[in-house]
Formats: sequence, C-alpha cells, structure tokens
Amino acid sequence: MSATHDLKELVRGRYGEAASRVRAGGCCGSGAASPSCCDPITSNLYDAAQAGEVPDVALQASLGCGNPTALAELETGETVLDLGSGGGIDVILSARRVGPSGMAYGLDMTDEMLSLAEENKRRSGLANVTFLKGEIESIPLPDNAVDVIISNCVINLSGDKDKVLKEALRVLKPGGRFAVSDVVVRGEVPPAVRRSMELWVGCIAGALSEEDYRAKLAAAGFEGIDVEITRVYGADDARAFLASEGMDVDAVAKDVDGKFASAFIRAAKPASCCPPEAGIRSACCAPASADGTSCCAPAAMATANPAGKATCC
Ligand SMILES: C[S@@+](CC[C@H](N)C(=O)[O-])C[C@H]1O[C@@H](n2cnc3c(N)ncnc32)[C@H](O)[C@@H]1O
Repeated sequence: MSATHDLKELVRGRYGEAASRVRAGGCCGSGAASPSCCDPITSNLYDAAQAGEVPDVALQASLGCGNPTALAELETGETVLDLGSGGGIDVILSARRVGPSGMAYGLDMTDEMLSLAEENKRRSGLANVTFLKGEIESIPLPDNAVDVIISNCVINLSGDKDKVLKEALRVLKPGGRFAVSDVVVRGEVPPAVRRSMELWVGCIAGALSEEDYRAKLAAAGFEGIDVEITRVYGADDARAFLASEGMDVDAVAKDVDGKFASAFIRAAKPASCCPPEAGIRSACCAPASADGTSCCAPAAMATANPAGKATCC
C-alpha cells in the first residue's frame, strides 16, 4: 500500500468516527453541545443568522477552520461545489444563497459523513442540494461544470494537493471562482514543532505555506490569487495538546505564536475560452462577452487558434 493510500484511510477513519460521534449526540465543532470539546479552530465560525439557517446537527458536525460561504459572494442561480463537505453545513448555506435555480454539490469520501449530510439535507428541506461520494483528487463532475468551488479545511488533508487544484480548475467554468478556507503555515518552524502543531490543527497531510499555496494555484492555471489571514493561532491555543506531546510549551512558544493561521484563499479560472493547447489564456480571450460568442479578438484568435472561432470559443 502507498503512503498516500494509508493517509487517505487514516483521514477516512478519523472523520468516520467524528460523524458517528455527532450522530450519538456528541460534539464536534462550531455548534459543540459540550464546551469541553470546543476548540479555537472550529468554534464560532458561523454567526447566529447562519446558525439559524442549518439543522443543529449540521452545526454540531462543523469541522472547518473558516466560513467560505460568508466570503465567497455567491449569486442566485450559480452552481457551487464544496470539496470535503463533511456534515454538509457549507453546502446547505450555499444552497440557500444560490436559491432554487442554483445547485450546491457536496463531495466527500467518508460514508458516515455522507449519511450525516443526507440526513441534514432532509432536515433542511432543500431540493437544490446533491451530495456526491468521491475523492477531491478525482472529482466526479464534468469539465466546466461549476461556478464556485468552496472548501473548509480539507485541502490540507490531501497527500496530493497539486492534483486537487488541477481537478478544481478542470471542473470550474471559465471565470469560475475558487474560494476556500484552509490552514497555512507562516515562516520557518522547527520540524518537530511543526508536526505537533499540524496534528493539533488537524492537518494530517501537512499545511502549505502561503507562498506554496500561491505557487501551486498558479502552477495549476489559476489567476487572481489572494491569501487573506482570518484567524491566527498561538502557543496558548495549543498548550494542552503540545504538553501532551511532551513539549515544553513556554520554550517552543516563539516557534508557534503566529506561525499557524486559518486563511481564506481566493483565485479564479481564467475567463479564456481558448483550449489549453493554444498556449494562450486570458491574454487572447478576456473579457468574455455575456453570450460567450465574442470572447476572442480576431487577430489574437488567429494566432492562438488558426482553426477559427468555433473551436476557440
Ligand atoms: C475537516 S472535515 C471538514 C468538513 C466540512 N468541510 C466542515 O467544514 O465541517 C474534512 C472532511 O473532508 C473529507 N475528506 C478528507 N479528505 C478527502 C478526500 N481526499 N476526498 C474527499 N473527501 C475528503 C472528510 O471525510 C471530512 O468529511
């Protein structure tokens, strides 16, 4: 078995247990029934208005590190995809934003989470919600299918982040938005401290630095990349966990304080209608016209794709 496979099974087991805990009336995240299991990462991410829009169980199953639906600016009629949708809180909130003429997909690989999400869909009474079983490294949707990709603390769990970002670009429509919450590392952190902090924040596969996130998004083909820090963690937040790992928390505090943060990461798929093999993206086609027929200037199109507008646009 490969290391990536083992990692995936570890993640699946962990979130399967989390879903079963919520089902049994235990706690998990933002809506934690018992304060003893609240943590500074998953707690207080949703305001009272949003909390009122989702079933209690969906709130209790919240395991994210941000609130992508609050920052993503969803429009009526849009199609949204949530990568690693868990109990479905962000899918349900998105479905309300895009309305009955839109659609909110949630993708998750863990059966227990999917069944919790289906139960939350039923409780919400929403029809424009679809949960899909699958992996974020191989998204079971066609090319150019969604307007917005959201995700809440999931990409850091993947052992192949480049593949996830490539898949995200593929399924987004031209001009589609990537609007994701994730944990990032800022600056140098000694390896042992980094590993313990990553376990504390739940980034089993390792968090990316801000710079690496930007570089990977750009390499996948995204543009308009922006990383906005939304919540910064310090040694005191992780004190109990680090101590349980045998660390002298005061001694490592300087290596921890401000080094791990939740961030909101924005990017866009180029609005180009040129196929990748043309080798020219937005330079030849932006901005697209509303009807999608006049996005290439004739001269640029001739250079980019001598076959003509039909294949370019
Ligand atoms: C940290 S929880 C976040 C859940 C949800 N986004 C939220 O905010 O509550 C991670 C979720 O991602 C799913 N997941 C992790 N890695 C995945 C992968 N490679 N493909 C599909 N789902 C994955 C897990 O099953 C789990 O439900």
